[in-house]
Amino acid sequence: MTDLLAKFDGLIAEHAGLLTAGVRDPFGIVMEKVLSPTEAIIKGQHTILLGTYNYMGMTFDPDVIAAGETALRDFGAGTTGSRVLNGTYQTHKECEEALKDFYAMDHAMVFSTGYQANLGMVSTLAGKNEFVILDADSHASIYDGCAMGNADIVRFRHNSAEDLEKRLRRLPPEAGKLVVLEGVYSMLGDIAPLKDLCAIAKAHDATVLVDEAHGMGFFGEHGRGVYEAAGVADQVDFVVGTFSKSVGTVGGFCVSNHPKFEILRLVCRPYTFTASLPPAVVACAATSIRKLMHSHNKRQHLWENTRLLHGGLKARGFRLATETPESAIVSVLMPDQETTVRMWSALIEMGVYVNMSRPPATPAGVFLLRCSICAEHRADQIETVLARFADAAAATGLFRAAA
Ligand SMILES: Cc1ncc(COP(=O)(O)O)c(C=O)c1O
Repeated sequence: MTDLLAKFDGLIAEHAGLLTAGVRDPFGIVMEKVLSPTEAIIKGQHTILLGTYNYMGMTFDPDVIAAGETALRDFGAGTTGSRVLNGTYQTHKECEEALKDFYAMDHAMVFSTGYQANLGMVSTLAGKNEFVILDADSHASIYDGCAMGNADIVRFRHNSAEDLEKRLRRLPPEAGKLVVLEGVYSMLGDIAPLKDLCAIAKAHDATVLVDEAHGMGFFGEHGRGVYEAAGVADQVDFVVGTFSKSVGTVGGFCVSNHPKFEILRLVCRPYTFTASLPPAVVACAATSIRKLMHSHNKRQHLWENTRLLHGGLKARGFRLATETPESAIVSVLMPDQETTVRMWSALIEMGVYVNMSRPPATPAGVFLLRCSICAEHRADQIETVLARFADAAAATGLFRAAA
């Protein structure tokens, strides 16, 4: 019998090689106890969490937890079915109402994850003889949506309005086109120039979908995302998002004003052919979304924290992926894989958890330590993180390796 997993032998060897160097597995972290949105016990040690995407710190919000507990008691642990058959409960409808209010849109559809929302929307909206035009640095779920659908795929250079223009110009003017953008790109933490990109897309009669996974909650006056902050709401046809970041639970969604939106419930396979989210999860999400509408102080504190971390790392000599803090993701550029792992490992031993990222999640040749900031981080936690980054750099010889 041919070993079907043999194709992964190279990766298995590389991963094992990492661990023989005596470091902890960056992809095998276990949180033994979660104390708050910013602290957990990992390997018995108090650890500051700086890699959770829990931007607004909603995971332990008392109202969110109470809503989940009530729904768990009233509706049970799960729906055991698809939204189209036995899987739509009152809690799902309430969650969709909360989304419609939050986004001021006519329609909202909740998926089981953000991954499935992109998979479903991208594969369903653009069909045979139509085109998906996507940023080269798009999230895996967008690429997988392309792979699942029947449209022709065209990539443009990351955040390049000029390249988007060039690619759109080459397509048949009458063909259906879906331009897929992200508000925040989660690897480098940079934001998209949505004003330029949307204007070009609309000049070529394209439909625009923006994934606001990392922008929801704190960009724009109402926290709708980068598209709101950029003032292009009238040029965006579909917004996709997730509950796994600012909302603080799990799930995905799409909102839109398109008058035919509701038909998607019957034709979008990652919505139709899978079980719906448990009632407790959607009840948590609905309460969280409604609270996020009025979280101006939290938004402000998140930005203060972000500036503190970005400025502090820069002042200590770290190279960052963005010149200024563009989002709540601050990515530290590393010279190579080995140094990245050693830095990551030194930090976790000191009680700081960040995300280690490397290709294929990152663009080719880019190694990162990614920090995601929470509105609930205290200034003294950020100062501790900065001191530990400096200590880890000294212990690993980072600045010598990077020179
Ligand atoms: C840009 C983007 N879109 C979609 C997703 C998928 O979201 P979920 O975790 O809900 O599947 C992610 C998750 O990391 C993401 O970064």
